[in-house]
Amino acid sequence: MTEAPNVPPGVDTSIPTPARIYDYMLRGRHYFEGDQMAAEQILSAVPEIRDAAWSNRGFHQRAAKYIAEQGVSQFIDIGSGLPTVGNTHEVVQKVVPDVTVIYVDNDPMVELHSQDILIGEEKIAAIAGDLREPAALLAHPTVRELIDFSQPVGLLLTGVMMFVSDASRPHDLVRQYLDALVPGSYLSLSHLTDDQKPPARAEAFRAAFDTATEHLYFRSRPEVAAFFNGLDLVAPYEGAEPGLTYTGVWGAEDRELADTDGSRWLYCAVGRKP
Ligand SMILES: C[S@@+](CC[C@H](N)C(=O)[O-])C[C@H]1O[C@@H](n2cnc3c(N)ncnc32)[C@H](O)[C@@H]1O
Repeated sequence: MTEAPNVPPGVDTSIPTPARIYDYMLRGRHYFEGDQMAAEQILSAVPEIRDAAWSNRGFHQRAAKYIAEQGVSQFIDIGSGLPTVGNTHEVVQKVVPDVTVIYVDNDPMVELHSQDILIGEEKIAAIAGDLREPAALLAHPTVRELIDFSQPVGLLLTGVMMFVSDASRPHDLVRQYLDALVPGSYLSLSHLTDDQKPPARAEAFRAAFDTATEHLYFRSRPEVAAFFNGLDLVAPYEGAEPGLTYTGVWGAEDRELADTDGSRWLYCAVGRKP
C-alpha cells in the first residue's frame, strides 16, 4: 500500500485519481486503497494494462529525448503525473544539461510530491494547473518566468487528453497551446484507444474511472491523428513513413518485441510545428 504520507489539504483520498491509478500500474508508492481497487478492476478486465502503462512511459521518455536532440531546450509537460523512474527533466538533461522543464498537473498530489525531485533545480518547476484552461496556464507566472516563447518548446501531452471530454473540445485546447508556440516547436502526444479491442473489456476499463476524479474517453485513430493537424509528423522509427503508431513501437530498439497487446491500447506521435 501507499507510503505517501503527505496529502494536500482538501484531498479526499478515497476518490481514485488518474495520477494515483497510473502510479499503481507503474508500481509506484503514491496510491491509496480506492486507487488500488480501481486499478485492480482495470487489471481484471485488461491484464496487459501494466505493459500498456510502461509502453506509454517509454514513449514519453523516447519522444522527449528525440525532441531535445532536435535542439529544443524547454519543455512543458502537461498531465505530467507523479514522480517515477526517469522523470522528464532527468531524461532530457542527458541531452541538454541546461534544459527548462515545467511540470503541470491538476492532481494536487503531483505538485506536492514533485517538489521532492526538484530540490536544487532552478530551471525545473512543478505547478498545479488544468489543461482545460490554456489561457490561465500559459499566463501562469512560473511559465512566463521560465519559458522563452520566442524559442521552440516541446509540448508533452502524453496519456492525458483521454481525460478530457468532447464537451471540453480537446482538439481546440491543443490548438490553443500550439498557437502560443513558435515554428520549430514539437508536440508529443499519446492517447488510449479501444480500436479493435473487445468492447466488454474496453467498457470495464472505462467504467473504472466512473467514480474517479476524471472520466476516461477512448478515441479512434483519426481522432488522435487530428490532434496533429497542421504539424509535420515525424517518422516513428527509421524507414517508417511519418505518422501515428502504438506507444511501444515509437522509437523502439526492437519493434517486434515492443509491438505488444499492451502497447496497442495507445496511439502516439510526435509532430513539429512548421
Ligand atoms: C496517465 S497519467 C500520464 C502521466 C505522464 N504524462 C505519462 O505519460 O507518463 C495522466 C495524468 O494527467 C493528469 N491530468 C488528467 N486530467 C488533467 C487535466 N485536465 N489537467 C492537467 N492534468 C490532468 C492526471 O492527474 C495524471 O497525472
